[in-house]
Amino acid sequence: MSRRVQAVIIGSGPAGLILSQLLLHAGIEAVILERRSQDHVLGRIRAGVLEQGMVEMLERAQCAQRLHAEGLVHGGINLAFGGERHRIDLATLTDGKHVTVYGQTEVTRDLMEARAHDGGESVYEAADVTPHDFDGDHPYVTYRKGGAEHRLDCDIIAGCDGFHGIARQSVPEAAITTYERIYPFGWLGVMADVRPVNDEIIYANHPKGFALCSMRSKTRSRYYVQVPVEEKLEDWPDQRFWDELRSRLDPQAAESMIIGPSIEKSIAPLRSFVAEPLRFGRLVLAGDAAHIVAPTGAKGLNLAASDIYYLHEALVAYFKDGSDAALAAYSGRALARVWKAMRFSWWMTALMHRFPDTGAFGQKIQEAELAYLVSSTAASTSLAENYVGLPF
Ligand code: FAD
Ligand code: PHB
Repeated sequence: MSRRVQAVIIGSGPAGLILSQLLLHAGIEAVILERRSQDHVLGRIRAGVLEQGMVEMLERAQCAQRLHAEGLVHGGINLAFGGERHRIDLATLTDGKHVTVYGQTEVTRDLMEARAHDGGESVYEAADVTPHDFDGDHPYVTYRKGGAEHRLDCDIIAGCDGFHGIARQSVPEAAITTYERIYPFGWLGVMADVRPVNDEIIYANHPKGFALCSMRSKTRSRYYVQVPVEEKLEDWPDQRFWDELRSRLDPQAAESMIIGPSIEKSIAPLRSFVAEPLRFGRLVLAGDAAHIVAPTGAKGLNLAASDIYYLHEALVAYFKDGSDAALAAYSGRALARVWKAMRFSWWMTALMHRFPDTGAFGQKIQEAELAYLVSSTAASTSLAENYVGLPF
């Protein structure tokens, strides 16, 4: 079966879903092709901290009602080290800006429901999705569904299909440059239905390694500890996790921590990766398909939203005015912001983790940087303005 649409979006993660809603509201016909089932996509537990820019994107997508009702507004974050906890007052340091804690799962659910309500088309369990001829004027995408072969002819293919997606892999190697840093550790994460240990997020630097206390709601906690990459999940029964987490926190947090059975437990390796450029003729990349950041600065999901900000502007200009200029500028505009978030995440990762090769001198420098950070308004302001998100 073959037919024509204006845009094909590969991937139904946050990037693809936000783009699809913005295009729909601009009167541009797009179809989402997603290889997994809707339930599988909704079952993935990922990010939880939204910058104001991301919230504004969800408002533009007319999909922020529940977020505003249920999201937790945080005007500060906390750094724990040397047995003490220090608050970084994000709001005061950034003229009233803040972040919102609202799970990626909920963002995805809200976007999927809005798309269904607005009559947008998404094909789930689309197998062998393949982009073709995007270096010419007649690109198309093929896929299999329900035993049948399908073909969608289009003007634009948007690769929003995550790090392991097909879009970036379809680009000839000579046309793409990649930059990568793989860290020698990962994060062991646990979700539990217990009251969070603190009203705000705590990032802890401890001789045993980094730890993070986050949340999804007032009754659901999300906690992480740094572990070597080769660590096995089966070696981490809940009690070992709770003991390890507590041992890395400030005394007040360790004592007041409520524990309970984990409802999810996983190990995520830490990696930073950028592919350049983001446009190859009629194929564009956005979100994790093009770049992933170490999670320390909570930037991954937010970068997907900023890419879509630039991309949807470019696509509206392309489809409404026939202008190629905005599309030509997309890659440069988006990557300028991506690299700033890469730098911030890299810096915060270096600041908060134990590295196998730090050495005594490196350790002293890390301690001095933490002390400087919490005692200098200039240094705290730099952290705060990056954490709440640089302007689009
Ligand atoms: P994705 O959410 O990955 O969506 C891509 C979609 O494309 C998926 O639904 C996938 O099934 C689909 N797809 C893939 N290949 C194909 C194909 N061939 N055909 C069709 N569809 C395809 N960020 C943070 O800020 N904080 C965190 O704590 C955090 N934790 C994370 C934990 C994990 C385990 C992972 C993987 C990521 C985490 N991130 C975190 C990053 C954040 O979740 C991502 O940056 C965000 O999901 C990016 O959205 P996206 O839409 O670009 O990609
Ligand atoms: C999370 O809540 O999952 C989270 C919070 C802050 C981060 C990373 C992850 O930096």
